[in-house]
Amino acid sequence: MSRGLRVLLCQGEGGDDAEVARLLVGLGCNVNCERVADEATLEARVAHEGGDLVLYGVAGAGSEGGDARAAGALRALRAARRADPSIPFVVLTDEHGRDVAVAATRAGASDWVDLDDHVRLETVIAREQRLARERQAQRRIESELGMQAARFRALVEKSADAVCVLGPEGAIRYASPASQALFGRAPHALVGVSLCELLEREEAEKAREVLARVALEPGRSEAHELRMTASDGMRRLVRMIAINQRDDAAVDGIVLHLRDLTRLRQAEEALARSDQQLRQAQKMEAVGRLAGGVAHDFNNILSVILSYASMVLDDVGEGSELGQDLLEICNAGRRASELTHQLLAFSRRQVVEPRVVDLNAVVTRLERMYRRILGEDIALVTTLTPELGRVLIDPTALEQVVMNLVVNARDAMPRGGSLTIETSNVWLDEEFAEGHLGVKAGPHVRLTVSDTGTGMDQVTMQQIFEPFFTTKEPGRGTGLGLSTVFGIVRQAGGTIWVYSEVGLGTTFKVLFPRVDKPVTARRAPGLIADLRGEEQVLLVEDDDALRKVARGIMRRNGYRVLEARGAEEALALIADHAEPIDLLLTDIVMPGMGGPELARRARAMRPEIKILCMSGYTDDAIVRHGLLDDELAFLQKPLVPDALLRKLREVLGAKPA
Ligand SMILES: Nc1ncnc2c1ncn2[C@@H]1O[C@H](COP(=O)(O)OP(=O)(O)OP(=O)(O)O)[C@@H](O)[C@H]1O
Ligand SMILES: [Mg+2]
Repeated sequence: MSRGLRVLLCQGEGGDDAEVARLLVGLGCNVNCERVADEATLEARVAHEGGDLVLYGVAGAGSEGGDARAAGALRALRAARRADPSIPFVVLTDEHGRDVAVAATRAGASDWVDLDDHVRLETVIAREQRLARERQAQRRIESELGMQAARFRALVEKSADAVCVLGPEGAIRYASPASQALFGRAPHALVGVSLCELLEREEAEKAREVLARVALEPGRSEAHELRMTASDGMRRLVRMIAINQRDDAAVDGIVLHLRDLTRLRQAEEALARSDQQLRQAQKMEAVGRLAGGVAHDFNNILSVILSYASMVLDDVGEGSELGQDLLEICNAGRRASELTHQLLAFSRRQVVEPRVVDLNAVVTRLERMYRRILGEDIALVTTLTPELGRVLIDPTALEQVVMNLVVNARDAMPRGGSLTIETSNVWLDEEFAEGHLGVKAGPHVRLTVSDTGTGMDQVTMQQIFEPFFTTKEPGRGTGLGLSTVFGIVRQAGGTIWVYSEVGLGTTFKVLFPRVDKPVTARRAPGLIADLRGEEQVLLVEDDDALRKVARGIMRRNGYRVLEARGAEEALALIADHAEPIDLLLTDIVMPGMGGPELARRARAMRPEIKILCMSGYTDDAIVRHGLLDDELAFLQKPLVPDALLRKLREVLGAKPA
């Protein structure tokens, strides 16, 4: 059922609104009458509660003059229209008020009706009822449209993407609030500016081309990635989608949707990087297991070959033809041993002896050698930060890292150039640590080696850390340099990464965790004049041939040797042997109990016993990470007589007179 017409009845001087109300009810109109006493009430009612129709009565003779009555009618008309400019205002009159009614109609009242003309009154009411319904529907539509517009405005204005509309000449006509973060100007300050003015020249050029294509016809769209410097001075990567909406009357322009991809892209890159690092680490692990297994046996075999060859060489002397042949065997053996050593280094299975090291000191000490390696056409620049933090790493391994990078740089600059070695302190934040496998946030020491050489393309760069990857001709490179570097760096808890541009050069950055400890004193190698000794040695080694040759070397040089094939046998010997045992020489990796555990037990039984561990590789995480007890001396396999004898004297101390 349609609701009744809401009528506000207002009487001019002399009228009787009760009568009018009765009349309306009598006509059978569906009306809802409210009587208002004066213009002020009328205005308030219309303003706050609304109304469909104002009926203003000027019937009866009244006491006022015509002008005053007309003025009253006009005041009421204005009051009603102030509250609602479209509210119908009809004057009800009789012959006394007709002039006033006419004047009011001229001044803007909707109509006037004679009180006695019931038919017309009914018609006017019916008409106003219809108009009121139409107005209501119109208002509903308008409010719905208003809501919709507000909704769409909110969609654009609250969107994280910046939205801009370009006018026909390419100037910004509208910019959403998110534009401010990208362009560093308030949205209203962007109006009238062209997008290209906001970009650097090269980017502007590209953007101009995209916009020109999109402008060709309505409906065209194109996506494009823009690089720009945002208001905060940061470089940003922005995805722009330009859509030609010229055919849309409401927009009539080119709409740009701009999304900041910087964080997303960074996250993707970090993910890809740690993925690559993980794969690399897994590959190393697999190769390492294999290399470790081979190297263990290989070192023992090499020990035997090298030891016998050098013992016989000692006997015959280098002067003879046989001596020269033996020298060749020794040289070949040493090369083979270097290769095994490298295999172990990159697979992180070499026994390391980490020390607290000053990177600056290492670079300074080796600077002369680098200059020799680089030759005259390559300038060497070293920029060493004073007060550089210390790092915990095997010094020999660290030298190997720098050396490999220097040699690679030299090879990349066949026509000369310059090489820069730089050290500095850096702080890695959580975000960086998350994106780099095995890296902890905190203070680090950075070594940067950059060259002005050939550089590398992306495809090469992705493979350089792989063992045996080389672009050098056969004989010039084995492809183990960088995989070794990678292994050493990771073993020291560090990370490495590379920037390169074809034709411009390459930069390697190596980061090591910083340690706050004083530098470990270098053990002076010391000249040992007499390599012979008479002490009692207990030799523990599971490889028969190696045991035999080690025993031979020591006996030939005056030592007394007890032998055991494993830890259990050794412990039994220690328990049974009545005489003092001066030194325990033990392999680290043995079936059953390993060397370090044997050493611990031996020391418990004989606190004065000296210990020398030997190994070619290690599988034991404790030893591998350099947690070899500081009091355990270490000898690298393959065994060669000279090194063994030196080490024995080093550990046993000066020979008693
Ligand atoms: N500074 C550099 N500039 C350009 N390319 C480089 C640089 N360093 C390494 N590379 C590339 O990475 C490859 C692998 O380097 P890596 O040190 O592992 O092996 P290699 O130098 O070829 O051989 P090796 O070091 O075993 O003698 C090189 O062959 C070369 O293509
Ligand atoms: Mg190399």
